[in-house]
Amino acid sequence: MLNRELTQLSETSRSGNQVSEFIANTFLEKQQDVEIMSGPLKDKDKKKRPMSQIVAVKKPVLSPSLAPTQIPRFGVTTLHEGLLATEFEDINRWGLDIFKIAEYSGNRPLTVVMYSIFQERELLKNFKIPADTFVTFMMTLEDHYHTDVAYHNNIHAADVVQSTHVLLSTPALEAVFTDLEIMAALFSSAIHDVDHPGVSNQFLINTNSELALMYNDASVLENHHLAVGFKLLQEDNCDIFQSLSKKQGQSLRKMVIDMVLATDMSKHMNFLADLKTMVETKKVTSLGVLLLDNYSDRIQVLQNMVHCADLSNPTKPLDIYRQWTDRIMMEFFTQGDRERDKGMEISPMCDKHNASVEKTQVLYCTMQVLSTGCMFSKPL
Ligand code: CMP
Ligand code: MG
Ligand code: ZN
Repeated sequence: MLNRELTQLSETSRSGNQVSEFIANTFLEKQQDVEIMSGPLKDKDKKKRPMSQIVAVKKPVLSPSLAPTQIPRFGVTTLHEGLLATEFEDINRWGLDIFKIAEYSGNRPLTVVMYSIFQERELLKNFKIPADTFVTFMMTLEDHYHTDVAYHNNIHAADVVQSTHVLLSTPALEAVFTDLEIMAALFSSAIHDVDHPGVSNQFLINTNSELALMYNDASVLENHHLAVGFKLLQEDNCDIFQSLSKKQGQSLRKMVIDMVLATDMSKHMNFLADLKTMVETKKVTSLGVLLLDNYSDRIQVLQNMVHCADLSNPTKPLDIYRQWTDRIMMEFFTQGDRERDKGMEISPMCDKHNASVEKTQVLYCTMQVLSTGCMFSKPL
């Protein structure tokens, strides 16, 4: 149905055409002609065993293992503990200033937000996660977000964790999810963009990148974020799930894979369609709480929650939303510059000579309304 709407929209005007192109590129799975890669392998590349390791994983550059008694209040040492504590008063609110948290924690927003939320929800205690292991893992994970990527960095990951935490506390979901499911949703949010190179799946595919090869062009980034996230658990003193039973570990891994793969924007329309069916047939208990009695329904709500948290920056206070839009534009334009340099077609929204924050945000928010409208009401 959306394809028909998009064709109509693109015929109405030039800006209609832009909206249509943006939505089709971002929210629909691509039917593409396959191009065979050309070019001989260099000798040194031939000798390597191809695809034999997860490339991003570097050895952690960490201070010696922390003793449990030495863990500071927010998990990391900072000169601004008082200011950090003031910002943390908003930890349960939509609109917490994650940029201030980043500043006052010495650019450790992901570690401090996860540490605080895991403590508040008693997940460290309930799953017997040693505090030093937790902090070591979180710092290692945080180190694998790229500091030179403007949007997809550790601050975005921390923002998605905190937004998921707030969504999980929605009254209609009270006592619906188990601690294991909650931990899986928070962990998914924390790893969901790790080692993001600041370019899109389509860019990686079009440039015949190693990652696209590794994952056969299917949800390339999302598969990579998962692989890196799980691989880091194997680093020294990083296995935060060491005390889970085998069954719990398998269940958590399945949920995390399902949630992170669902952050691929090209799956957006499919998830919205499934959500529509669920909304229409929703079951609610006598207390007004959602009744989710099978894996498919439960994971669907969790997937949508992490996905919504991932897309939520336009719903944050304006000064915070502005900082996100500046960052996403910077990242889009950097990709556009690389495309121009390579003589490639410049992706929508990525041409700094032909795009603006305002236009992009109107498009981004229009497409949210459009796609929700297509799913939840009559056709446009
Ligand atoms: P990612 O975080 O991997 O998944 C959601 C995507 O939505 C995100 O990458 C961006 O590509 C896109 N996105 C999120 N916020 C905005 C925004 N404010 N403007 C434009 N695109 C956005
Ligand atoms: Mg992503
Ligand atoms: Zn993201």
